[in-house]
Amino acid sequence: MKRELLLITGPGGDAQGWGNMAVTENLNDTVNALGVKCSIAYVNNRKEFDEVMDKSSCDMVWSSLYYLSEKEDIVGVPDDAEWVSDLLDARNIPYIGSSAKTMKNLILKFVTHEIMEKAGVKVPFHVLVNPGSPIPENIPFPAFVKPDGESRSVGISDRSVVKNHEELAAQVARVHQELSQGALIEEYLPGDEYTVLMLGNGEHQEILPGKVTVDETHYGQYRILRSDLRGVGLTKVSIPEEHFDEAVELTRKATAALECMDHVRADMRVGSDGKLRIIEVNGIPGLKPVKSWSPQIFSLYHPQPTPEADYREMIHTILVSAFARIGKPL
Ligand SMILES: Nc1ncnc2c1ncn2[C@@H]1O[C@H](COP(=O)(O)OP(=O)(O)OP(=O)(O)O)[C@@H](O)[C@H]1O
Ligand SMILES: [Mg+2]
Repeated sequence: MKRELLLITGPGGDAQGWGNMAVTENLNDTVNALGVKCSIAYVNNRKEFDEVMDKSSCDMVWSSLYYLSEKEDIVGVPDDAEWVSDLLDARNIPYIGSSAKTMKNLILKFVTHEIMEKAGVKVPFHVLVNPGSPIPENIPFPAFVKPDGESRSVGISDRSVVKNHEELAAQVARVHQELSQGALIEEYLPGDEYTVLMLGNGEHQEILPGKVTVDETHYGQYRILRSDLRGVGLTKVSIPEEHFDEAVELTRKATAALECMDHVRADMRVGSDGKLRIIEVNGIPGLKPVKSWSPQIFSLYHPQPTPEADYREMIHTILVSAFARIGKPL
């Protein structure tokens, strides 16, 4: 019998999830081409979500939204957030991607770090300073300051790297004021940057590392992926010549500790001791054909005759694994 998948997106689909409506439409075409009956539900709010779900007969949902909210851009987790995975759990409808618990753990980087650290995964030194709380004295410099719950390098610039307490206090205050959320202080990781794709689960799982580079002329003071370098075609991904096994092992351990499923991407950098540390795990990675890092990495390892075929193959891998997990194999 033909399986049925429902793609959910909404105003926050780009900021929170895999990309804008064009990305969702492309994904819809791809899934249909793979022989799974697919459709899109664009929902603005809880009422529209409920109306769609009351009528739907899908076997599984795939959501570009972590949560429904009046806010289009993620600014931490808004007070009015209603988690899509919670709403689907309540209806007993399976979904592609990690569980509600894991999704919530992934969206706040401090929580992610704490879980990984407990499981023995290498993470940077980290301290969370919420608005109104004092900054601890014991911070090692240089440090890196970023918002606790953003993506796409929102809130990240050369000013994120701080060399003394004064710069630290100024950057923490900026995160509090401009993004209304906790400021995460980490040790500055000066080395190369990697992003590792995790696809599928158990016997279907693949862990594929990529090294991320930007032409040196585009960096400012620091070799960091500032917000203006993201999403504009300036980053390149290649198969790493160094740290390959280390990146695979780190991702395997991290995704196991966090109980990730189907498709996540772990970002990491080399610290001053020459070892990789995970800086975050993205729960709903970008799915823009050719441009997003996941399809780019997949293409490096599984080149097909065309980019469209690469993309289709990657989506197929995710679908096979997710449908197998719910006992409805493709
Ligand atoms: N501790 C650190 N030391 C050095 N650079 C860092 C550190 N943390 C983050 N960066 C730089 O800032 C970039 C964005 O950080 P991070 O991946 O945590 O945020 P993001 O905005 O959630 O990204 P994504 O879009 O991948 O979800 C990283 O890709 C890296 O270049
Ligand atoms: Mg990142």
